Amino acid sequence: MIKLCAVDELTNPGSKGFHNEKGHLFVVRQDDNVYVYENSCPHLGINLEWHEEQFLDSEQRLIQCSNHGALFLIHNGECIAGPCPGEKLNPIPHEIREGVIYLP
Ligand code: FES
Repeated sequence: MIKLCAVDELTNPGSKGFHNEKGHLFVVRQDDNVYVYENSCPHLGINLEWHEEQFLDSEQRLIQCSNHGALFLIHNGECIAGPCPGEKLNPIPHEIREGVIYLP
């Protein structure tokens, strides 16, 4: 079990990247929901972020790849605009226990 962070450590909406034995991944918080994805853009297989805590677009409504601007739905990781429409971010299984996000 790998501890990532407490949900309350994330802004709402907000995002944060992590690097651990499971690889590069990132968390997105939107209200009471938390999503974890592999930090690999389906366009070129490289990291998405602008910096460690910025995986979202300026309106904080979509995940945005900083490289060529692909936009992804937060709730399922589907690309809806940019160079890889219809492709998806890879979701990472996770658990929330007492407000803390863990990878099993
Ligand atoms: S690498 Fe993400 S849009 Fe090109």
